[in-house]
Amino acid sequence: MIGTDLNAARHWLEAGNVVGIPTETVYGLAGNALNEESVLTIFRVKNRPAFDPLIVHTDSLDKVRELVRYFPPVAEQLAHTCWPGPLTLLLPKRDHVPDLTTSGLDTVAIRIPNHPLTLALLQSLDFPLAAPSANPFGYISPTTAQHVADQLGDQVPYILDGGPCPVGVESTIIGFDTDGQAMVYRLGGMALEQLEAITGPLRVQMSTSNPHAQNAPQAPGMLTSHYAPRKPLTLLAYGETPSISGTLSAESVGALVFSGTLPGIPAANQLVLAPTGDVLDAARNLFAYLRQLDNLPVTQLYAQLVPDEGLGRAVNDRLRRAAA
Ligand code: TXA
Ligand code: MG
Repeated sequence: MIGTDLNAARHWLEAGNVVGIPTETVYGLAGNALNEESVLTIFRVKNRPAFDPLIVHTDSLDKVRELVRYFPPVAEQLAHTCWPGPLTLLLPKRDHVPDLTTSGLDTVAIRIPNHPLTLALLQSLDFPLAAPSANPFGYISPTTAQHVADQLGDQVPYILDGGPCPVGVESTIIGFDTDGQAMVYRLGGMALEQLEAITGPLRVQMSTSNPHAQNAPQAPGMLTSHYAPRKPLTLLAYGETPSISGTLSAESVGALVFSGTLPGIPAANQLVLAPTGDVLDAARNLFAYLRQLDNLPVTQLYAQLVPDEGLGRAVNDRLRRAAA
């Protein structure tokens, strides 16, 4: 059921169940992060492999401190500047954070999301919420309550509707090495340029955020099938036009484009991410438009990369994974 009743959401969560929740980035599939049964339910509903750890959400820095052993100084600075907001920090976990939540890692991924409904929900709970994106593992992330209902509705008793997600791509993930040096593990809703203004130049290392990745099929969030539509998707460089030939007709092609349209493809088959050329619009529209693209009566999809700046970096990262 979709609704805006915070009490209903709270009751399901207190009973150990899972609930769809809005955040500024994407919708999450939330459960009690400290309750192993709830965490197992999240993994089961999402069909997510146990080696892929969850992000823990809470609503205050004091509550974050109850979950982590210490804050490297730069993490403290990032937390003060960016929370609530689309930034996840990897911090050493305290013992009472279940190994199931972190897939056995000794760090916990944690953030304070910037969404009024979910902040109010978190304030009313006496436990934090583990919440991966509320999509079946490997498919496109949800940015509306209806997206969640379409894919997980029969397995989730309640979906809290907070409207369409204003940022539209998942949080940026930052971890710290033993010297406390910050490193980016996932490009996301907090622009690299904004983060570097706080930390100085950042290394971006998106394939090794999880040591399990050594033997697992690539790092979490980094699986090649991630964000994938069901139909074959080919990337185009910014400004490139597809060469349609052979058995393919223009009518059987759909395209996701940045701000203009592509010649040779029917206008009805083209979705324009950012008509005014703003990469923030591209991020906000990305996942909803990928879903629409996937549902067009066509057999081959194209997607045009966007300018590689600000949230455009996260958009391009998701497009590359969707096409992989
Ligand atoms: O914006 C977001 O972050 C959304 C909303 C719901 O908050 N959540 C989200 O969760 O994107 P999910 O599960 O789809 O992605 C979490 C990523 C995964 O790639 C996971 O492997 C990584 O975070 N992660 C979680 N804990 C980690 C840890 N301790 N070390 C390294 N990576 C971790
Ligand atoms: Mg996800």
